[in-house]
Amino acid sequence: MKLNIAVLSGDGIGPEVTKEAIKTLKAIAQEFDHTFNFKSASVGAIAIDETGEPLPDATLDLCKHSDAVLFGAIGDPKYDNNPNAKVRPEQGLLKLRKELGLYANIRPVKAYDMLLSQSPLKEENIKGTDISIYRELTGGIYFGEKQLSEDGNIASDLCEYSREEIERITHLAFKAAQTRQKKVTLVDKANVLETSRLWRNVVKQVAEDYPDVVLDFLFVDNAAMQLILNPKQFDVILTENMFGDIISDEASVIGGSIGLLASASVGDKHAMFEPIHGSYPQATGKGIANPIASILSAAMLLDHFELHEEAEMVREAVEKSLQLEITTPDLNSKNNTITTSKVGDFIEDFINNPKDSNLNFANIHLGQSTII
Ligand code: IPM
Ligand code: MG
Repeated sequence: MKLNIAVLSGDGIGPEVTKEAIKTLKAIAQEFDHTFNFKSASVGAIAIDETGEPLPDATLDLCKHSDAVLFGAIGDPKYDNNPNAKVRPEQGLLKLRKELGLYANIRPVKAYDMLLSQSPLKEENIKGTDISIYRELTGGIYFGEKQLSEDGNIASDLCEYSREEIERITHLAFKAAQTRQKKVTLVDKANVLETSRLWRNVVKQVAEDYPDVVLDFLFVDNAAMQLILNPKQFDVILTENMFGDIISDEASVIGGSIGLLASASVGDKHAMFEPIHGSYPQATGKGIANPIASILSAAMLLDHFELHEEAEMVREAVEKSLQLEITTPDLNSKNNTITTSKVGDFIEDFINNPKDSNLNFANIHLGQSTII
C-alpha cells in the first residue's frame, strides 16, 4: 500500500516521540513491502514563532492532501502562564480537528499485565481492563461562542450540540462495541445539562439499530469514580468533548503511564493519529519521553487502513519492550539509561527480526549483544 503521511510533530517532546513512530512505520513498510511517504509541516508554538500562526495554511493544506496525519504534541509554558495571549498553540490543534472534520477521537485504555504494579491503583481492580473511549471532538464547549465582558469580569463558553453531531459518533461507538464486549456506556450530566439530555435521547434512538449491544448511562461525576473503583465494567465509553478530555487523562492512570495512551481522530474524509499526552516541556531534549503512545498511535494508523497484521506486529513489539523493560524512566525506575530513541530502536529491530530466539534477546535488539 502507498500512503502519504503528513507529520506534524509540534512542540516539546512531540518531535522526539514522533521520530520513533516514523522509525516504526518505516520498519513496517520495509517488512511488508509498503511505501509510506512522510512530509513534515509546523504546528503549535513553534509555528507561531515561525509564522505568527499556530496552524499555517501550508500545514493545513498538506494535511488535507495527505492520507493521514501523524501528530506529536502541542503547547508551551509561555502560553499556559499567559491567559491573555490572543494567539495560542492549542488553537492550531482545535482548528485542525475542525477543518479536517475529525469528529471522533478514539482512545484505547489497556492494563498491560507486566505494568500492573506501575499503577497507583490496586492490581486486582485493574487487571484485564480494556476500554475504548469514544470522545466527540469537534463540538461542545470547546467550539461554542466565547465571550468576555468589556470590563473583563464576566466570561462565558457556550456548549452546543446538534442531533447530527451526536448521531455520527454514536454509530461509530456502537459499531466498535459490536466487535468488542457489546456494551456502550454513555457518560453525560443529564441531571443538569440540556445538551446531555439531547445526547441521551439521540443515543437511545441510535441504539435501536444495534440490538446486540447493551446501552448503559452514567453521570460524569460517578463515571470518574467508577473508572478508578472498577474500570473492568467498561467496554466502550461514549462521551462529549470536554468530559472525554478529562476522563481519558484519568483513565491513563490504569495503564501506569500517560506515556502509553494512543489515539486516533477520525472523520468521514480524514484521519489523524496522536498520543494523548501533551508537550511535556520539562522533558524536552532529555531523551526521557516515552515514545510508546506515539508508536501505538502509528499502530492505530495501520489499523485504520486495514493493515491489521502490521498493526498487530507493532503492538507485539511494544509488548515485548514492556516485558523486557526496554522502557523510559516513567515505567522503569531501575534502568534510567534507556532513552526515547533506544525504545524506538528496539521496536524497529524487533519488527525487522521477529523470529530471533530469546537468547540474549534484549541485548541483540538493543545492538548490545556480546555474541553477535
Ligand atoms: C487532548 C488535549 C487537547 C484537548 C488540548 C491540547 C487542546 O488535552 O488532546 O486531550 O483538550 O483536546
Ligand atoms: Mg487532554
